[in-house]
Amino acid sequence: MDRYAVVGNPIAHSKSPWIHAAFARQTGQALAYEALLAPLDDFAGTVARFRAEGGRGLNVTVPFKLEAFALADRRTPRAEAAGAVNTLALGADGILGDNTDGAGLVRDLSLNLHCPLAGRRILLLGAGGATRGALLPLLDSAPARLCIANRTRHKAVELAQAFAAHAGTVRIEGCGFEALADQRFDLVINATSASLSGELPPLPPGLYAQGALAYDMMYGRGHTPFLRAALADGAARVADGLGMLVEQAAESFALWRGVRPDSAPVLAELRQLIE
Ligand code: ATR
Repeated sequence: MDRYAVVGNPIAHSKSPWIHAAFARQTGQALAYEALLAPLDDFAGTVARFRAEGGRGLNVTVPFKLEAFALADRRTPRAEAAGAVNTLALGADGILGDNTDGAGLVRDLSLNLHCPLAGRRILLLGAGGATRGALLPLLDSAPARLCIANRTRHKAVELAQAFAAHAGTVRIEGCGFEALADQRFDLVINATSASLSGELPPLPPGLYAQGALAYDMMYGRGHTPFLRAALADGAARVADGLGMLVEQAAESFALWRGVRPDSAPVLAELRQLIE
């Protein structure tokens, strides 16, 4: 049976084995998918051993996405733009590195949440790996405006400059949080790691345009501080990142197997399981 795995450290709480098992059942694909704990100093060795045992593909999570990028022999354009790899296809002709996180986000927004992106004003909070991974797919969705705001302002400005060549007609800019005063957005995405520690980016009030969606890439039981604050500040709707998790997995599955699973029922079932 073809073998796949998610590799990270820690890895015990990963939902990926459950999600991919559900996709495999649904699409009638015979495959095994496990969770691999890699030692912090031996990611490359862990991948090599898995490949030598016949492993066909890996999802890569914290803290190895940069090492996976370096390890890949070839990379997709979206992985190059992200500067990080979350999906490895282990072929006889070498290792292909892809990044499905941003596409997963865009699919969750457009398909599951029915949030149109074309022509909209999008605010992306944070300037780390999560933001970088989302930028190319978001720009490809042709919003009117994409603003990156970060606690450390210069990182947001540099990211905006680095992606200007991909922006086409999209107005892309980087700024600090204080510069957001008096601005309105249709979609605000929290890609900072603040929610991990129960914190909240210090945002000025009045960010949400009529009908706006607030989206946190984090997920878990209940609303994050960011989502609670967004509702208090007038966001019409909020969503966590569970849909992005399922959609990035579906993208990886499609890359490996050439079959796209129907993610909606899997997301609905996972939502029931964790809540
Ligand atoms: P990731 O790969 O998850 O994006 P990262 O590269 O460490 O992680 O980036 C974390 C992001 O969250 C950064 O943009 C960071 O802001 P700084 O660049 O100023 O450090 C942001 N961040 C983390 N904690 C935050 C907080 N409490 N408030 C606002 N931003 C925060």
